[in-house]
This record gives sequence, structure tokens and C-alpha cells, in this order.
Amino acid sequence: MKIELQSLPYKEDALKPAISERTVHIHYHGHHQSYVEKLNKELEKTRPGGNSEMNSVSASESLEEIILQSVGHVYNLAAQIWNHSFYWECLSPYEGSPVSDTLSRAIDNEMGGMELFHRQFIETASSTFGSGWTWLVKDENGSLQIINTHDGDNPLSNNLHPLLAIDMWEHAFYLDYQTQDTEYLSRIWKQIRWEFVSQNYETPFSDRLQTNAGKNLVRMVG
Ligand SMILES: [Fe+2]
Repeated sequence: MKIELQSLPYKEDALKPAISERTVHIHYHGHHQSYVEKLNKELEKTRPGGNSEMNSVSASESLEEIILQSVGHVYNLAAQIWNHSFYWECLSPYEGSPVSDTLSRAIDNEMGGMELFHRQFIETASSTFGSGWTWLVKDENGSLQIINTHDGDNPLSNNLHPLLAIDMWEHAFYLDYQTQDTEYLSRIWKQIRWEFVSQNYETPFSDRLQTNAGKNLVRMVG
């Protein structure tokens, strides 16, 4: 069993000027790819005779199942792979991606409208202490929530369905914005692919993992 690095859904310079080509290159080929390589080394240990905390993993298990069933180093690696694949899909080279009517109504009803939602999201993201992620999620009752997770923690672990993720680790913005995380958030907000976020909201999560999943979010080979 082997995890494959998901292809970027656009060229490395496509997010300029919000995110530089250099940042995308290092983020994708350095950090994201590194998580994949390290997890694959861990999964190698699950083969007969291997020595791993995950020696019960089977070849049929998906990345999500690894996230839900593992702890410690393996969990962190698997979650970070998932988080980054999802993050790339949440961004668009183009500004002005439309929010669907269904998600727009939910934001109006539950978040007080797009403007207030935007403000709350930025405030929550700016309050990140250390490394982490800011998410728009749907909870078990179908309600929207804005949450932060620390380090590589993934909302799936708390039965929350991710709709949107913004990477708040410094490696996501430091080269371009140094410590000005609010500037990073302001620029990147314009390039959120709301069509993807809306699709995530409207598709039952179980279906999404199998049929959409950020196109190739989970791609098992071998
Ligand atoms: Fe990252």
C-alpha cells in the first residue's frame, strides 16, 4: 500500500500574486511531498515482519481510515497529507468564484451573512497560536462552524466535515508576508474556490469521499 502525492490542480505560479511561485513550490514539493514520503515509510513497516504502530493497517484502507484509526506520528502525517490536498483544492487561480445559493443561504441564516462570516473567519484564523489550520466545517447536525485545529489535526477526527481549509502554518505565507498573516488571509480570501466549498457543503460526506474527494484526494496505489 502506498500513498501518492496528489497533483496540484494548477501551475505553481497560478496563485500569484496572492501566493508566490516559490512559496507554492516549497510548500508542495517540500512540505506536502515530505509528508507523503514519510507516511509511505511508515506504511512500509506495516508489511509482514515490519515494526509499526499501525501494523493492523490493510491494503484496502484509505487515507481517511488511517486518519481515523491512527495516533501520533502516523496520524499527523496522514492528516497533513489530507489537509494539504484539500487546501490546494480550496484555492483558485481566479478571483470571484461564486458561492452556491444553497451555501449562501446557510451562511446568511447561520453566520449572519457573508460579510460577518468573512470577518469571523479572519478573526479565528488570526488567533491561531503556533501552527495550525482554520476550517469551515459542517457538524453532525448539518450546522456550519468555523474552527481552528492545532498542528496537523484534522476535523474528521471529531466527526466534522471539512468544507474549506486555510493553512495557517508559517510555511504557507512567511516568504511572501513574513509575520503579516492578516495580509495573507486578505489576499487569499479572494482566491477561494467557492464552487468547491459549495460542492462540499451540498454533497453528503460519504459520497464526497468516494466520488469527489478533491478529485484525487485519496489515491491509493500498489
Ligand atoms: Fe502547509
